[in-house]
Amino acid sequence: MNNMVVSGVNNQVFVASNLARIEQFYSVLLGLPVVKRTVHHLDPRLPVITFGFRTFKGEPRRGHTISYIEWNPIFYTMPEAGFVDREATIAGVASPRVGDPKGRWGAGTNHHLALHVPTRNGLLKWKRRLTDLGLHVTGPYNRQYFHAIYLRDPDGAIIEIATTEPGFGHDEAVLGSGFRPQPKENLIGGRDELLTASETWPQPAPAITDDFALRGFHHFTSISSNAERTEKFFVETVGLRLIKKTDYLDEKGGTHYYYGCDDELSPGSVLTFFGLPGYSTGRLGTGLSHHFSLEVENDAALAHEHERLRRAGVRISDIQNAVYSKLFFFRDPDGHICAISTPTVLTVDEPQDELGQRLCLPPEVEERRIEIERNIALRPAPVPVPAG
Ligand SMILES: [Fe+2]
Repeated sequence: MNNMVVSGVNNQVFVASNLARIEQFYSVLLGLPVVKRTVHHLDPRLPVITFGFRTFKGEPRRGHTISYIEWNPIFYTMPEAGFVDREATIAGVASPRVGDPKGRWGAGTNHHLALHVPTRNGLLKWKRRLTDLGLHVTGPYNRQYFHAIYLRDPDGAIIEIATTEPGFGHDEAVLGSGFRPQPKENLIGGRDELLTASETWPQPAPAITDDFALRGFHHFTSISSNAERTEKFFVETVGLRLIKKTDYLDEKGGTHYYYGCDDELSPGSVLTFFGLPGYSTGRLGTGLSHHFSLEVENDAALAHEHERLRRAGVRISDIQNAVYSKLFFFRDPDGHICAISTPTVLTVDEPQDELGQRLCLPPEVEERRIEIERNIALRPAPVPVPAG
């Protein structure tokens, strides 16, 4: 398919209650480097940390990043509309509504982020390493197109680790050609949970060796209350390619549709939706993703997509300069926040070999550095985890 403007996925942004805990989780437990420390481009009172992935010899370089926004006033819900428009963000941060800060799954929220490991042995090493470090890990499950384990970040967001093999092409000649029902042994109620829970790597895995270091994204998964409506939106309006229609393996009666965001159809460029009819609407907050962003090649393509979606009647924000990329937000039919972004360039304000070491501020708030640094320093630091 040559008319796809979106060239892949770019970034997923979560909300956390404490960035120091998140940093420990990603950099110490998962081995991902911090590549940027900054504040949100719409409100400097919101600290942001970004993690990247190492590049491995012979493997394609992907510019995937994971960011976390800290929503610090822990007794308050975050702005209902999210951090999408400047005025609403500033007003929401200045006077947050009293309530539960935790996000709640539902239609229009993400469900999990899947990271990519090449092999099933690598997956088992992750399970051994993370359980030895005290995390609760489920799986490895056979997801028919990959194998996967699941864990949670410190605020409860679900993180999956998924393999390359066997891939999406082994059960149909033309991807997305029809509904592919799943074998009973993959479905909840039909699979052997005890056998799954007992399987792990036989030796400890205290160091993250290259064979199982995380490569980037595998897929993003969100929740739809109407799978057909979501399919129509992402295929006809956004312009992605449907690559698989199948069962949701963990809840009877649900569907799982997969969309490719580039022509390669490799892990890392896949968006998926659980179709759960009648699911009530979720709520943004800690332990959930705020949005994911799809990538276009440059500013001209971004402006083109902005105009195209606007004409199609999609709810969109203005194009914003987020310092490291330009982007605009839009909402899918369930209200899920998505973004389309230019590629992330992290070296605009610090050299490549010094990424993530210091707090970088957008030029217009640099004069407020002392106040911003003091604000960040007030956060409690977590107890270090002794892991290599
Ligand atoms: Fe998944």
